Formats: sequence, structure tokens, C-alpha cells
Amino acid sequence: MKYKIAVLSGDGIGPDVTEESVKVLGSIAKKFGHEFAFEYEDVGGISIDKCGIAITEETLGRCLDNEAILFGAVGGPKWDNPKNDVRPEDGILKLRKELDLFANIRPAKVYESLIDSSPLKKDILKDVDFIIIRELTSGLYFGEPKKRWSESGNRVAVDTLKYNEEEIRRVVKVGFEMARKRSKRLHSLDKMNVMATSRLWREIAEEVSEEYDDVELIHMLADNAAMQIITNPSVFDVIVTENTFGDILSDEAAVIGGSMGMLPSASLSSVPGEKQDKVSLKPALYEPIHGSAPDISGKGIANPMASILSVAMMLRWSFDLYAEANCIENVIDSLIKEGIRTKDIAIRGHDFLKTYEIGDLISERVANYEN
Ligand code: IPM
Ligand code: MN
Repeated sequence: MKYKIAVLSGDGIGPDVTEESVKVLGSIAKKFGHEFAFEYEDVGGISIDKCGIAITEETLGRCLDNEAILFGAVGGPKWDNPKNDVRPEDGILKLRKELDLFANIRPAKVYESLIDSSPLKKDILKDVDFIIIRELTSGLYFGEPKKRWSESGNRVAVDTLKYNEEEIRRVVKVGFEMARKRSKRLHSLDKMNVMATSRLWREIAEEVSEEYDDVELIHMLADNAAMQIITNPSVFDVIVTENTFGDILSDEAAVIGGSMGMLPSASLSSVPGEKQDKVSLKPALYEPIHGSAPDISGKGIANPMASILSVAMMLRWSFDLYAEANCIENVIDSLIKEGIRTKDIAIRGHDFLKTYEIGDLISERVANYEN
């Protein structure tokens, strides 16, 4: 079968790591007898340089013709002036909105053999393996008004935090679906003691929970959750929360394992597990959690594993290729266990492999993989 993937590698180390993911997909194709067709498009700073905006309408249109999007990273010092009207980040925000990618899934997995790189104590990290589901197409990121003006020489700005019940319901449902497949425990984070949107969030979460009486719903204030993520992270299994809380807490969660370079993410436009009419289904987007890291781009030292693991998520969720997804994840697990490292997670005094060497090695192990 042929699968169509749009590749938007973007800026900084985006292209470095994405190239390795495409390489690994080539190996998966051979091993399992599939065909992947790649369509390369610009996004972020590189698109600003070429076309004046972070993503063009043509690119958006072509993304819709594909079944999944492999995204690298956007941004860099060249485009960082806060006074600029166009920003590389507009590219990913536009994609999220136009493709209705409302559910962002970010796993916070702690690899046993990487625990020493974590800033936290070992015993706190025992059995930590949770996922954050972040609402991705509403809230402060998109609410109107969003603007800046001047009142008698005093500069003022406003962002708007707004949610409607449907936006809350669909993402909370994703939380329940995921929790149902895991430990049947869902933490819903909000600030209901302060915010009207949070009180609506809590109300809707309660309503949705009636359809899932096998799943325990636990409400927690987001600030308390920020504390629990570093003091007691093993209490979490599935977390669901709004856009901005999810942005901040998922970065926090990503570093506790000591390996930001290992964490993938998926942004989906449907509730996994709910049968959809394939034709109306928009492509999902898969990207590493790390950013463009311009300081190390092109040096061949970036860790491509987060991007390659994002491909595993793509195989599983966009293409239903479970054996293929497991193959990639198991290969990476075993590399890490064997002490094979990139620079970011290198063991002090030990060698590490370059970006392309990791890509080659994973491709080779995929080719020789036996279940
Ligand atoms: C992320 C990033 C983005 C966000 C930026 C690049 C717009 O930080 O994916 O978490 O804030 O959502
Ligand atoms: Mn972020």
C-alpha cells in the first residue's frame, strides 16, 4: 500500500533530524513491503525568506492532499526580532488551526537507562510513563481580541482566553479514550479557582465522564500539577489540559526524563478509536518535542530519535501499522539500553554517534528486526 506524507522539515536541526526519519521510513518500507511517497514543503523561517510568510496557502493545500505530516522544527535568531510582523512560529500555528489538529499528544517517558541524565532523584522517577494531551487549536493562542495599542502613551496588549464547550468536549474525550486503553485514570488540569474557562472545562469534563464510567476522572489545579510533575510524577498516567497549561507543563514533563531529544509528539484532528469517514479525515501532524536548536544545526550532532519516534506514532495512528511502529520503538529501546548515544544524552567520557550514524543504525536494525 502507498502512504502519502508531507515533509515540512523547517529550520535549525529540523532538516537534520527529519532526514533520518525519512531514511528509517525507507527501511520500514522495504522490510514490511509498503510504499511511502514524500512531498517536501517549506515552513517557518525558510518559508519567510523565500515567500515572505511562514506558510503559504499552496503549502497548506498540498498538506491536505497527504495523509500525514512529518514536521521538523521552526525558528531561529535570524527571525527572532519581537517587532517583526511575520514569525516562523506562525507556520505551525496556522497548520494546527487549518488542519484542526486539536489534540496534541506528548508522552513523558523516562528511559530507565537515561535516568542519570535527569535533574531529578532516581527514586522519584521510578515507573514514570505518562502522556499529556494538550488542547491545541483554541485558548490564548487563538482567542480574539489579540492585539496591542496605546492609551495616552501607555502601551497596552491583550490576549483572549476563550473556550466553547465543543472545543473542550472533543479533547477531553481524547483523554478518556487514551486513559481507557491505559490505566483508566485521567487527570484533568485547570485553574477553576480563578478562571471562568476552567470552570466550564471542569463542568464539561464531568459531563463527558458519564460516558466513561470505567475511567476515574481526577481534577487537579494546574499549578499543583506543575509541582507534582517534579515531586511525584508517577501519580500521572494520562493528563488532559488546555493549550497554554499544556504548553508549559509538557516542557516541564519533557525534561524530567533527562532526554528532550527522545520525545515525539502527535497532533490529531479526531478522537482516536472513533471510526471516521476516511475522506473527511484531515492529515495528522507528527513532530519531535524539541525545537530548532539553531546553535547545533548542521553540525551532525542533533538527536534524531524524537523525530524517528514521531514516525512510529505516525505509523500507529495515521496508518494503523502497529507492528511497524513497535519495531521502531523496540529498536530505539534496545539502542538506548546498549548505551548507544547521541551527544545530548552521552555518557560522560564515552563516545557518541552522529545524527546520520544513528539514522543508519536504526535503519539497519529495522531491516534485520525479528519480532
Ligand atoms: C510547542 C512550541 C510552540 C507552542 C511554538 C513554537 C509556537 O512551543 O509546540 O510547544 O507554543 O505551541
Ligand atoms: Mn512549547
